[in-house]
Amino acid sequence: MLNKERMPEHVAVIMDGNGRWAKEKGVPRLVGHNAGMQAMKKIVDHSDKLGIKHLTVYAFSTENWKRSMEEVSGIFKLLVKWVASDLKGLIDNNVRVKVLGDYTVLPEDAVKSLEKTLEATKDNTGLQFNIALNYGGRDEITRAVKSLAKKVKDGALEPEDITEDAISAELFTGVYNADAPDPELIIRTSGELRLSNFLLWQSAYSELVFPEVYWPDFTPEEFEKAIADYQSRERRFGGRK
Ligand code: IPE
Ligand code: IPE
Ligand code: MG
Repeated sequence: MLNKERMPEHVAVIMDGNGRWAKEKGVPRLVGHNAGMQAMKKIVDHSDKLGIKHLTVYAFSTENWKRSMEEVSGIFKLLVKWVASDLKGLIDNNVRVKVLGDYTVLPEDAVKSLEKTLEATKDNTGLQFNIALNYGGRDEITRAVKSLAKKVKDGALEPEDITEDAISAELFTGVYNADAPDPELIIRTSGELRLSNFLLWQSAYSELVFPEVYWPDFTPEEFEKAIADYQSRERRFGGRK
């Protein structure tokens, strides 16, 4: 049973294992990505039901461009399809969508449908669904450093004012974009035990949970198990009890 008093405000998920799921079933990788998209929809609905404020999913990394053109463009096509079929549902459920990462370099139809979604959901007040797309933690930090350097050069900021909060503000999760708190919980499916360039700055004190299942098999029940695991942990933040 989940403790409603100890619900994480922000849960982030590395949706990994679509390819291996497909391989085990002897089907093309894109069938795996499609199944992953279905799993994602259920987790969005369930997050809303659980009263989570922010759900962030890692959908495409700055390193995923290394994959075949066929796989990359297939993933973006699935994204466009999902946005088109689910936009109404997102609006009805009061979900606000934000993108983490520079999505403007994606194929034109993907950029268009994302922009339509951002605009149509921007005033919603329920769950905030952050999609990390063409996202990399190092890229994000590099952009933040550039922006701060520019502000200093323009005389709008003193070097002494570069605080941790000032850096956080410049990130994709910062006040100028998603305005999300650091995730209390990060889940990575498929048994891989690494962050793969996800939320490097924001994960400083996140609790990490690594369910063995491949992402397409990640159900709301698995999600609740991961949250229960988080709730059983003692968070110390460097202090002592
Ligand atoms: C995660 O599944 C989805 C993306 C990276 C887009 P993978 O495609 O990485 O699946 P595996 O790791 O090869 O099983
Ligand atoms: C991380 O998974 C990126 C996403 C889930 C979108 P990868 O499958 O790309 O990570 P590595 O290559 O196993 O580290
Ligand atoms: Mg993978």
